[in-house]
Amino acid sequence: MQFIKFEKQGFVGSITIDRVQALNALNNQVIEELSECMDTIEKSKDLRCLIITGAGDKAFVAGADIKELETLSPEKAQDFAMKGQRLFRRFEVLEIPIIAAVNGYALGGGCELAIACDFIYASTNAVFGLPEVTLGIMPGFGGTQRLARYVGLARAKEMMFTAKQLKADEAQALGLVNKVCSPESLMEEVKKTASKIANLAPIAITAIKGASTQGYDLSIDPGLHLERTLFSELFRSKDMQIGVKAFINKQKPEFIGE
Ligand code: CAA
Repeated sequence: MQFIKFEKQGFVGSITIDRVQALNALNNQVIEELSECMDTIEKSKDLRCLIITGAGDKAFVAGADIKELETLSPEKAQDFAMKGQRLFRRFEVLEIPIIAAVNGYALGGGCELAIACDFIYASTNAVFGLPEVTLGIMPGFGGTQRLARYVGLARAKEMMFTAKQLKADEAQALGLVNKVCSPESLMEEVKKTASKIANLAPIAITAIKGASTQGYDLSIDPGLHLERTLFSELFRSKDMQIGVKAFINKQKPEFIGE
């Protein structure tokens, strides 16, 4: 792959979008390579957490590739949006948690990618925004649907109507970002959290992700039904036995993912 780097350390995988000369903008090739990378990740049995970041110190992802957008017909634009939406949805429903490590501009499709992840850590130089309206277009990779879930509908609309950009501390104050770190410590902090997740019971974490992500779109009773179904399923797992026994015996559990 030309623009996507994947590496694995223990149970933690890291995807880096590396197209620095265009601030990691998402052209067709980047989207295809990311999809290919996801084919492998989805099949992997030994990953428990994923990190996604951008190469260089200036951008996470500066959006969809505007030079490619220029050439699109309405039909091709529909296909392009579908491709991006499908890809980001795969991140959202992936069985393992994904942390976005936002190290600079996260604009347009870059912001949409970050908010399709489970949560975001950002460096102090991060900038978030959906500036599509300045190009005469609108967000097409899920921004109109997901941003409000992070910051509330009125704030999301204001950001999209005005192309307002948020610095890391403002984004944190609005609940878009979980933690702000120095640029030097961002990856270390993200890896620390990823490794904490990777050492806890993976089947339980998948169940929590499923119940939280799917439950968010349900009303309370179907949501509670989903929760108790997944809760009860966990009582079939060896990890449940391991965790409960370790507590009773005052030991540290070693989860096996079964
Ligand atoms: N697409 C293609 N190329 C991009 C790009 C993008 N989204 N963002 C930056 N680049 C390129 C620039 O064209 C430039 O390339 P050249 O050196 O060949 O001219 C290079 O990256 C560096 O960018 P700048 O010189 O502009 O850097 P800067 O520091 O002056 O500004 C920036 C940085 C504020 C992020 C500015 O690049 C910018 O505004 N980028 C566009 C952001 C944007 O509008 N994103 C939304 C895209 S539309 C979208 O994403 C739709 C959707 O929902 C799917």
